[in-house]
Amino acid sequence: IVVENAGAAKVHRHTANLSMAPGSTEHLVETTLEAARDELVRGLGGLLGRPVPVRDGFPDRAVVVGTPDSSPLVRRLVPARDLAPLGRDGYLIRSLTRGGHRSIVIAATTDLAALYGTFAFLRRIQAQQPVSELDISSVPRINHRYLNYWETERLYAGNNPAGTGGLNGENGAIFDFTATGASAALNLPVILDRYLVAARAMASLGINGITINNVNANSFYLTPAAIEQEAALADALRPYGVRLAVSINYAAPTDARFAPDTLTREELDPYSAKFRDWWTRRARQLQAAIPDFMGFTVKANSEGQPGPQDLGYDHGDGANGMAAAVAPLGMRIFWRTFVYNADVDADRLKRAYLEFGPIDEEPQPDGTTGRFAENVFLQTKNGPLDYQPREPANPLFGRMEHTNQAIELQVTQEYTGQNTMLCYLGPLWEEVLKSDTYATGPDGRLLARRLVGHVVDGSAQGHPDTAIVGVANFGNADNLTGHHFAQANLYAFGRLAWDWTLDARGIAEDWVRLTWSNRDFVVRTIAAMMMGSREALVSYQTPLGVAHQFRSSDHYGPNPAERLARDDWSPVYYNKADTAGLGYDRSPTGSNFVAQYFPVLAARYGDIDTVPENLLMWFHHVPWDRKMRTGRIFWDELVYRYQTGVHYVSWLRQAWDALEPHVDARRFAEVKAKLAAHEADAGSWRDTCVGYWRQFSGRAIPTDGPLSL
Ligand code: GCU
Repeated sequence: IVVENAGAAKVHRHTANLSMAPGSTEHLVETTLEAARDELVRGLGGLLGRPVPVRDGFPDRAVVVGTPDSSPLVRRLVPARDLAPLGRDGYLIRSLTRGGHRSIVIAATTDLAALYGTFAFLRRIQAQQPVSELDISSVPRINHRYLNYWETERLYAGNNPAGTGGLNGENGAIFDFTATGASAALNLPVILDRYLVAARAMASLGINGITINNVNANSFYLTPAAIEQEAALADALRPYGVRLAVSINYAAPTDARFAPDTLTREELDPYSAKFRDWWTRRARQLQAAIPDFMGFTVKANSEGQPGPQDLGYDHGDGANGMAAAVAPLGMRIFWRTFVYNADVDADRLKRAYLEFGPIDEEPQPDGTTGRFAENVFLQTKNGPLDYQPREPANPLFGRMEHTNQAIELQVTQEYTGQNTMLCYLGPLWEEVLKSDTYATGPDGRLLARRLVGHVVDGSAQGHPDTAIVGVANFGNADNLTGHHFAQANLYAFGRLAWDWTLDARGIAEDWVRLTWSNRDFVVRTIAAMMMGSREALVSYQTPLGVAHQFRSSDHYGPNPAERLARDDWSPVYYNKADTAGLGYDRSPTGSNFVAQYFPVLAARYGDIDTVPENLLMWFHHVPWDRKMRTGRIFWDELVYRYQTGVHYVSWLRQAWDALEPHVDARRFAEVKAKLAAHEADAGSWRDTCVGYWRQFSGRAIPTDGPLSL
C-alpha cells in the first residue's frame, strides 16, 4: 500500500477536542487519505487474511492511492488528461506495469474521490471479481448525495414500534447530543465507534452529506451548545467527506432559547431584514464552527409546522427569504414539497403541485421564468402521497423545470415493514427512477431524456446542480440498521445515488457477496428472496394500487376501517370502499389528479382500461366484478394478490432455512426470528383487509385453487 502525504492537509478543526470513547475499536483519522490508507490496511488485511504493509517509494505489486496534488507517484503514473473527466468525485482504478513493477493505481482529482475509489476497489476484492487488467472509471451522476437522519421519531432501525423486539440492543438514536448525568461520558465531543462506522459506511457509498435531525425540527440544534457538539461530529465525519446540515423550524426566531435574539411572530416576514439577518446570524455561527456546513432542510406549512403562509406568503417567498439569508455563506436551502393543506383541494395528491407549480412558472422581472432562488432545492418525495410501498411517480418530476429539485426516498422502512419485514427497496427506487415522465419541452415535443432519473440528474431539463436524499435508517445496532436485510436498503440507496441507472438485482447480488457469501447458491437464493420481497409486500398490504391502509398508531399494521379526524390521514379516505367497488377516482370525471401529469400519462392513467393494473386503485374506483387481465374478476384478483403476497413470505422463510449451513449461527437465527414474525404479520394484513373488503363486495372468498384462503 502506497499512500503518499496521507498526513498532510489535515481536515480537522478541533482535533484536540475530539477523543474516542474508552474501549473503542474504531479510531480517529485527520485526513481523507489517512482514511483511505487505513481502509486498505484493514480491508486488504482482513480479506486476504494477512497483513498488507504500508510502504514508501514504488515497490512491486503496490496499490497506489492519491491525487496528482498529493502524490508525485500518481502524477507520474496517470496522465492529467485521464483525470480531468472525473470531476471532483469520480475516480479511476487501473492496473499498470512500469519499469517491471506491477501496480494498481487508484487516482482522482480530490482526496475524497480517491477514498471513494479505494472503497470501490475493496468492494471488487470482497465480491471476488478479477483485479488484474483493471481499467475502471466511475463518476457519479448526481452532485449531492445526502441522507436525512430523523433521530428517534421514525427511527425504525433503532426502535421497533411493532413491538416484536429488536436485535443487538439496537434501541436508540445513533448520534448522542443530549446525554446528561450518568451517561454524560457519551456526549460529544467524545466520539463513539458508531459515528465512525456510519461515516465509513456513508463514504463507502459516496454519500457526501447528512442532515442530522428530524424534519419536524427542534430548534435546540441551532443553539450554541448544540453547535459546539455538531462541530465535533462534523470534525469526526469530515475526513470521510460527509458534511452536515440541520433541519430547522421556520419559526425558530421566536424560540425563547435564543433570547434576547428573538423575533415576534409578526417579524417572521421572509422579506424583512430582521428575519433574514436572524438566519444569517445563525448560519454564521454554524459556519464559524463548521466551515463546510451545508445549509438547512425545511419542512414548512406541512403537518402543523409553521411557515411563510402563516403570514400570508407562499413557499417561494419563504424559501427565497431563507435562501437569501444564507447565500452569502455559500449555503443551500432544501425546502420540502411534502405539503397537503386541505384548503387547496379535496384530493390530497393534487395539493403540492397546486402550491409549487405556479411559482415555478412565474415570469420574473429579469425575463427569466420561475421564482425559486438558485440556492434552493425543492425536496420532493418519490410519490405524491407518502412513501407508500408503491406509488406512481410524483408529478412534480418534470413539471418543475425552472427549479432545482431533489428526490427524497425513504430508506428507513416506515410503511414497508419497519424493522420486522424483509423488504428490499431497490426495485421500488429503480421503478421510480426509471419511470417515464413523458415530459415535453418548450416546443411541445417529448424530451429525449425524460425518465425521473434524468430529471433528478439534471440531464432532462439542463440543471447543473443536482441532489438526491435518503431518509436514513441508522440506529444504534452493531450493523447500524437492526434487521440484517435493512442494511441492503442503505446500500442500495447509496449505489443508486451514485448511479441511478444501475439495476436493483445487480446491487442486491453485490450486497449479498459483501454481506453473506460469494457462494453461487447463497447469492442466487438471497438475491431472489430480496428481489421479490417488495412486490410481495405490496401484494399483502396494498395490492392493485389501494393506497395507505396502515393503522395510524404505528404505520406498521393494517386498519382499513380507520376514520380519523383528518380525513386525509384515514385509510377510508384512500380506499373509498362501497358496494360498487374500491379505490379513489382521480380520472377526469373524478378528482382529475391525472391532469397534473404530462399528456401521455394523463391519458394512460385517466382511463381504467389503460392504467397499469398495479396502479389501478390510485386512479379509479374499481367495480367488484370488473374483468381483470388474468381473466379473474377484480374481487377474486384482489384476494389472490393478498394470498400470493403471504405465500411469498412463507417461501422466504423456507428459502432462508435452506441457507443454514452457509450462514453464521447468530445471523441465521436473528433473520429466522424476523421472518417468523414477518410471516405472521403478512397473514394478519391479508386477513384484516380481505375481511373488511368483503363486507362491501358481498362476495365469497374464492375457495378453489392453490391460493384460496
Ligand atoms: C411521514 C412521516 C412523518 C414525517 C413526514 C414528512 O408522514 O410519518 O414522521 O414527518 O412523513 O415527510 O415530513
